[in-house]
Amino acid sequence: MSNLLTERVLSVHHWNDSLFSFRTTRDPGLRFENGQFVMIGLDVEGKPLTRAYSIASPNYEEHLEFFSIKVPDGPLTSRLQHLREGDPIVVSKKPTGTLVLHDLNPGKHLYLLATGTGLAPFLSVIQDPETYERFEKVVLVHGVRFVSELAYTDFITRVLPQNEFFGEQVRDQLIYYPTVTREPFRNTGRITHVIESGTLFADIGLPDLDPAQDRVMICGSQAMNADCCALLDARGFAMSPRIGQPGDYVIERAFVEK
Ligand code: A2P
Repeated sequence: MSNLLTERVLSVHHWNDSLFSFRTTRDPGLRFENGQFVMIGLDVEGKPLTRAYSIASPNYEEHLEFFSIKVPDGPLTSRLQHLREGDPIVVSKKPTGTLVLHDLNPGKHLYLLATGTGLAPFLSVIQDPETYERFEKVVLVHGVRFVSELAYTDFITRVLPQNEFFGEQVRDQLIYYPTVTREPFRNTGRITHVIESGTLFADIGLPDLDPAQDRVMICGSQAMNADCCALLDARGFAMSPRIGQPGDYVIERAFVEK
């Protein structure tokens, strides 16, 4: 029996030349935890060509949403970027992943550190009401090279705070901190730099990272993940050793090179 379901594309949104998002139908039997990923892809010459994609939509929505880079010669994304409404897309039946709330020890502040399309799993996490029950403040830091890569800004700053069920918690508890490295912007510098310099904490009005009260989820390139791990390890944070075993932080590589 195949472990793939065939869904249909509901809509596609192009953010710029290199980034796009799309929504698909969702099999009612597909269950997942916010922050997890699935394999998705296309049938290419009779064979499924799939890659791991974080689910950007929360698990109570009827559709699935994905946020993708466009790699001109990438085997999958060179094709995916031409998706149109109604096109078929395959989705695996077994979501998994480390960026889940229940793998974090209790804490006061939750830091979600993303670069590029590493934002995707955190879009799901910030739409989970449990996130706001478990943490007093939720700080979403999104690092990109260029301003045009700050996808979902409008959703995070305008739409989500108006959510009829948990908009008030979003307004009180969610802090969005976009930072840009290769052109002028109100916040600049790599995530690691804004943490190490203390700029992030001065700007958002929270104390410096402390393993006694802060919890962290990380999703970026291999180099970004390694640097963030080193930074947290040096401050005494313990990584969740495996799925199902909580720690002070969890980490997953953003799925690039598609
Ligand atoms: P920079 O412009 O200084 O390379 P990429 O598209 O290469 O994944 O980069 C996305 C963002 O992540 C960019 O702002 C980039 O900064 C930043 N970045 C790249 N490597 C690291 C790293 N090791 N630690 C923190 N941020 C990084």
